[in-house]
Amino acid sequence: MTSSDIRQKFLDFFAKRGHAVLPSASLVPKNDPSVLFNTAGMQPLVPYLMGRPHPSGNRLASAQKCVRTGDIDDVGDSRHLTFFEMLGNWSLGDYFKEDAIKWSFEFLTSKEEGLGLDPARLYVTVFEGDENAPRDLEAVEIWKQYVPENRIYFLPAENNWWSPGDNGPCGPDTEMFYDVTPDGLGDMTHEQYVAADDAGQLVEIWNDVFMEYEKQDGKVIGKLGMRNVDTGSGLERITMMVQGKSNVFEADMFAPAMNLIKESAQNYTERDARILSDHLRTALFLIADGVTPANKDQGYILRRVIRRAVMKTKILNVEANTGINILNHYINFYSAAYPEVAKKGIMDIFKAEDEKFDKTIQSGIKEFEKGTDAFTLFTTYGFPIEVTEELASAKGMTVDREAFNTQMKAHQDSSRAGAAAKFKGGLADTGEKTTQLHTAHHLLLAALQKVLGKDVHQRGSNITEERLRIDFNFDRKMTDEEKVEVERQVNEWIQTNHNVCRREMPLQEAQGIGAEMEFGAKYPDVVSIYFIEDEAGTAISKEFCGGPHVEKTEGLGTFKIQKEEAVAAGVRRIKATLS
Ligand code: SER
Repeated sequence: MTSSDIRQKFLDFFAKRGHAVLPSASLVPKNDPSVLFNTAGMQPLVPYLMGRPHPSGNRLASAQKCVRTGDIDDVGDSRHLTFFEMLGNWSLGDYFKEDAIKWSFEFLTSKEEGLGLDPARLYVTVFEGDENAPRDLEAVEIWKQYVPENRIYFLPAENNWWSPGDNGPCGPDTEMFYDVTPDGLGDMTHEQYVAADDAGQLVEIWNDVFMEYEKQDGKVIGKLGMRNVDTGSGLERITMMVQGKSNVFEADMFAPAMNLIKESAQNYTERDARILSDHLRTALFLIADGVTPANKDQGYILRRVIRRAVMKTKILNVEANTGINILNHYINFYSAAYPEVAKKGIMDIFKAEDEKFDKTIQSGIKEFEKGTDAFTLFTTYGFPIEVTEELASAKGMTVDREAFNTQMKAHQDSSRAGAAAKFKGGLADTGEKTTQLHTAHHLLLAALQKVLGKDVHQRGSNITEERLRIDFNFDRKMTDEEKVEVERQVNEWIQTNHNVCRREMPLQEAQGIGAEMEFGAKYPDVVSIYFIEDEAGTAISKEFCGGPHVEKTEGLGTFKIQKEEAVAAGVRRIKATLS
């Protein structure tokens, strides 16, 4: 079965059960500035899940183009992609759990109408319940008709509650996992199941969300006026399963691209080949939906995926036209389902960006020929060490890797340990305003973690007398509500007057208490940690830092976010002031 067959079978299966088949919406959401791209099939349907009648009725199905840049660093493993197709079916206040579960099971396992997957390899998770909604015993009762009860596991909201963001429709979900081990895992206890999932022995293949709740500002506020179903299944993963492959890049949409790379690469690595295959496909679909390379928003993401792909062609050292050949493969492969990929002019946009980037690379090569070292080529021209090594070996030269690594380490230490390092050398600006902004910087990071999640960490910083700047990992634009909440939190901490104190402790102890470290930075055995605490000594912030800081937060004034923007995929930047 090809991936096109699977897509068609899915849409036919749900059409037969009364669903209107919708065409995929554009990757760029219409009238929704809160996200750069559609990241799920339900995104274009949000107004209808909230109650507006849909012109095509209350049973819908689609294959929706999605881009998720948050996963970009995982691309290269067996299953993560930046672009993917999501198969989904929806009930807008019509059928609910009984039919949703029955149809998911039937489509996955039926040999005639569905995919004929082995039911003995299927495991199911359901919502365990919390203050927002009860344990989903109803879903368990339904599932028991199809899978043995000991293969149904209860998990918390973190796993089995789905919402597209902090505002809008949401609800508990039930997820289906498929065993991809050669011999099959058989019956598993809860702990064994969790371990198997962690070990990548199970792949999530479908999610049925029972969307009957609503979120506002990150909190579940109650039930919607109707009970919806929102399901989603990744076509590439399903295809890999049906085609009996162990990674998505062996599935039919990618295999020819991977072969083109294998055939022409002088310097083949599987991971680089996967990234190149993934990024070129994403670039094609973005350009087909009208995105052009630029320095911000969607255009910036496109620019990044093209440039990263071009760099990969250099690292892999493929023949000159390989990128174009891969794009042509995708155009042929997808033009029946997505005619927009065959539009005129797509290749020109790709080539123009490739050429533009090539000019930067060419100036880098000139520098290389003048004898500029690998370190400068990296920091000024963005040449990965592998590219410099390629250039060098073409000239019968080698790169001194050790010298490069030492310089890189020194560079990282100085930029990452940043302020701390400079203060020790006595070069720091210890002016009053700058010192205040240092403390506000710590408060801001703590507030970001509170509002956006504790996975947010600092990726860079810069403080002048006028403003602070922080870069942090987060995969989308912050909403206005989130920005307001972060400002409010920082100002509340300032006003309730917290103490700032510096303590020295062994590195291990500091790590043990969860002090915030800078990503990738190297620290000495004894470190300096700044605590910001209330009168009772409860710390709202603990950070590795050399200072200087104010002693008390009162007197910092009013904190304000001036700008929030993307600096790279998955990295945001905030500039903020105190007045
Ligand atoms: N919206 C849910 C998801 O993305 C189901 O489609 O997983």
